[in-house]
Amino acid sequence: MEHSDFGKRFAGKIGIGELMDDLGNALVADPAPLMLGGGNPSHVPQVQALFRKRMEAILAEPGEFERLIGNYDTPQGSKSFIEALVELFRNEFGWNLGPENIGLTNGSQNSFFYLFNLFAGRFGDSRRKKILLPLAPEYIGYSEVGLEKDFFQANRPEISRLNDHIFKYQVDFESLELTDEVGAICFSRPTNPTGNVVTDEEVNRLRELASRHGVPLVIDNAYGTPFPNIIYEDVRPVWDENTIVCMSLSKLGLPGLRTGIVIAQQEVIQIVSRMTSVFSLAPGGVGPGLALDLVSSGEITRISREIIRPFYESKVKRAVVQLQEEMSGVPFAIHKPEGALFLWLWFEDLPITSRELYERLKKKGVLVVSGHYFFPGLDEPWRHKDECIRVTYAQDDEVVEKGLSIIADEVKQLYSSQ
Ligand SMILES: Cc1ncc(COP(=O)(O)O)c(C=O)c1O
Repeated sequence: MEHSDFGKRFAGKIGIGELMDDLGNALVADPAPLMLGGGNPSHVPQVQALFRKRMEAILAEPGEFERLIGNYDTPQGSKSFIEALVELFRNEFGWNLGPENIGLTNGSQNSFFYLFNLFAGRFGDSRRKKILLPLAPEYIGYSEVGLEKDFFQANRPEISRLNDHIFKYQVDFESLELTDEVGAICFSRPTNPTGNVVTDEEVNRLRELASRHGVPLVIDNAYGTPFPNIIYEDVRPVWDENTIVCMSLSKLGLPGLRTGIVIAQQEVIQIVSRMTSVFSLAPGGVGPGLALDLVSSGEITRISREIIRPFYESKVKRAVVQLQEEMSGVPFAIHKPEGALFLWLWFEDLPITSRELYERLKKKGVLVVSGHYFFPGLDEPWRHKDECIRVTYAQDDEVVEKGLSIIADEVKQLYSSQ
C-alpha cells in the first residue's frame, strides 16, 4: 500500500504516540509498572464525587441524559456552556469578551492542530511561516501537529540556578528572533514538561513583541487559572484581541470527555468552528454538559482553588523533599515546580543519554519520559536536551515514592560508575 506524504508522517515513530502507547499499556500490564510517564491527571476523590453527583442529577432529570448524548451541538459548541464561560471570565478577570470569542473543540490537542496550521505552514507558493516557541523545552504534543515540515522555531532558555538543587528557565529575549517567518508565538503556562510558570513580566514582553510583529500570541492554559488551577504562583491571566488562550477540561479530571476551549478574536473562532465542522462536525457535548453547572455557579473556581491546587501542591512538596534526601551527593537539579503535574529533572553530565536512562528505568519497572522529546524546533546540538527526564507526581503517593526511589538509585549508580 502506498502512503501519501501526509500518511508517511504517521508511518514512523512519533513521540506523543509512543508516550500514549506506554501509558495505555501500563494501565493493563501485569504487574503494572510504576507509571511516572504519562500526563494523566490524578483521580481526585472529591472532584470525582462532584462529577458523579452531577451525572446522577442529569440522569434523574427526565429527558436530560437523552438530550446530552443524542444531539450534535453546533460546530462552535454548546451555547449554554459558552455563555457560562463568558460570564466566568468576565467576573473572574474582567475580560472584555462575548460568546463570539469562545469556541469549543474536542480537546486542546485538537485546538492546537487547528490553530498552528492556521498561522503556520505554506502561504502561497513561496512563503512559509513557523510557530515560535520562545521557551524550550515545550510540550511534546505540539511536535507533530504541523502539516508541513520545519514547523517550529524554538528558543533556548536562560537557566537561573537557585538554592537546594532547584533551577528555573527564563525566556532569553536577547536571542529571541522574530523574523517574517514567524506566524504565531506559543507557550504553555504552566509548562509541560517543566512545571515552569512564565512570569507576568515575560508574558507582557511577549505580548508586546507579538503585537508589534502583527502575529498572535497563543497561551496554552491547560493547567492554569481559573481551572484547573494547578499553579502555585500568583499570576495575572491575560486575554486581548491579539491573544489566544487555550483551555481544557482534561486536567480538571475529565480527560476522557475531550473538551477544549479556545478564547480568541471572533474571526479566529469562526475559522476554528468551520475546521471543527470539517474534521468532526461538532465538539462533544458531554464534557460541557457535565461541567455546565459548575461554571455557571462559579463553583469551578472554588473547587480548583480549594481542592485541586492543594491536592497537587502537597504531592509535589512530598516528591521534592524525597528527591532532595535520596539524591544527595549527586549533581541533580529540579526545575522549580510552579505548576502542572510534573517534575523536570536535570542530570548534568550524566554518562548516558536520557533516552538510555528511560530504557534502564523501564527495565526496572518505572516509566518516565525522556526529555529529548520536548525540544521541537530546537535543532542545534545541546547536551542539555539529553540530560533531562520528566516524571509525573499525579499518581498515588506510594507509586510516586517507589518510582522516585528507583530513579534515585539508578542515577546514583550511573554517576558513581563514571
Ligand atoms: C500543556 C498541554 N497542553 C495541551 C494538552 C492537551 O490536553 P487535552 O487535549 O486533553 O485538552 C496537554 C495534555 O497533557 C498539555 O499538557
